[in-house]
Amino acid sequence: MKYNFDIIIDRSQNLERKWDHTYIAKNYHLTGDNIINSSIADLDFTTPLPIIDAILERAKKGVYSYSYVSDDLYQAISNWYYHQHQVNVPVDKIKLVHGTVNALHQLIQCLTDVNDYVLVQTPVYGPFGQAIINNKRRLLANQLQWVDDTYQIDFAMFETTIKKYQPKLFILCNPHNPGGRVWTRNELQKIIAICQQYHVLIISDEVHGDLALPNVKFNSLLSFTILDNYLIVCNSPNKAFNLGGLKSSYLITHNEMLRAKIDEQYQRASITSPNVFTIPAYLAAYNNSEVIMWKTAMLTYVVKNYQYVKEKLTVIPGLKIMKLEASYLVWINYAETNLT
Ligand SMILES: Cc1ncc(COP(=O)(O)O)c(C=O)c1O
Repeated sequence: MKYNFDIIIDRSQNLERKWDHTYIAKNYHLTGDNIINSSIADLDFTTPLPIIDAILERAKKGVYSYSYVSDDLYQAISNWYYHQHQVNVPVDKIKLVHGTVNALHQLIQCLTDVNDYVLVQTPVYGPFGQAIINNKRRLLANQLQWVDDTYQIDFAMFETTIKKYQPKLFILCNPHNPGGRVWTRNELQKIIAICQQYHVLIISDEVHGDLALPNVKFNSLLSFTILDNYLIVCNSPNKAFNLGGLKSSYLITHNEMLRAKIDEQYQRASITSPNVFTIPAYLAAYNNSEVIMWKTAMLTYVVKNYQYVKEKLTVIPGLKIMKLEASYLVWINYAETNLT
């Protein structure tokens, strides 16, 4: 096999929030070598070699001063979307920013007012709610329904909630973390229709989009026609290639008015130079057929891991394991067992 995903990397002394022993002891009050931290969506394989090489090359220059975003970065992102997701993204619609979670805070600050409602579908990646609450907006939750071990959207409730509370924003997790759902075109079309009808801006977090499992088609919201382009997409190669520590990501919107407000917000917050390693890492990730082959092999391996976990855990009565369509997270419900 060309890639060896069986190698276990010792990350116990790596200052990594997921595995570092000191961090785990301090924050979870747990010690020992056999702790398996399932709390962070961080890849447990090394980054593909072309990306490592690009970072090393840049590191060897020995100067790490303030950098700027070069045009070829935006071209690489545009090419990636075209080839991987069959979507045309003109380079001037993309903006490199400092991480998706930070971007959610910035977007909420510049596109809503204090006390406005912001809608999410729960359960969902925790920082969505924190971005809403910490910025003194009101969190509105449409509960996802667990049906046949997969999450389904209660569209009637989705519409009723929007009609009643008139949220300015809906933050969609597409694919869904933690449910592992890759929303179908039909589901996304219904979401868009309702949001359009009530003039709700959609922010689509697509950071797990590159992790749709083999034979599952991820649908970027950019592949739909949306009235007034009332949409912002958040994405990055962080989840797929283990680059979260670079603290970078990007936004895409075709709406000029939204773009102007976003630019103004980032200027106000003085968020300018990207991380010096981001550009070489992203170029290597998005411009490299070797990286695409690595990703396919990695996801094939993840499917086997998922099957293994399922096989081993289904012996526990009452345990319910969600079907996995994207990413490397398994969502397990143990409410009907006597586990704690
Ligand atoms: C859905 C989702 N969005 C965003 C992030 C974090 O993105 P970033 O590290 O760019 O802030 C995560 C990380 O787990 C995630 O699962």
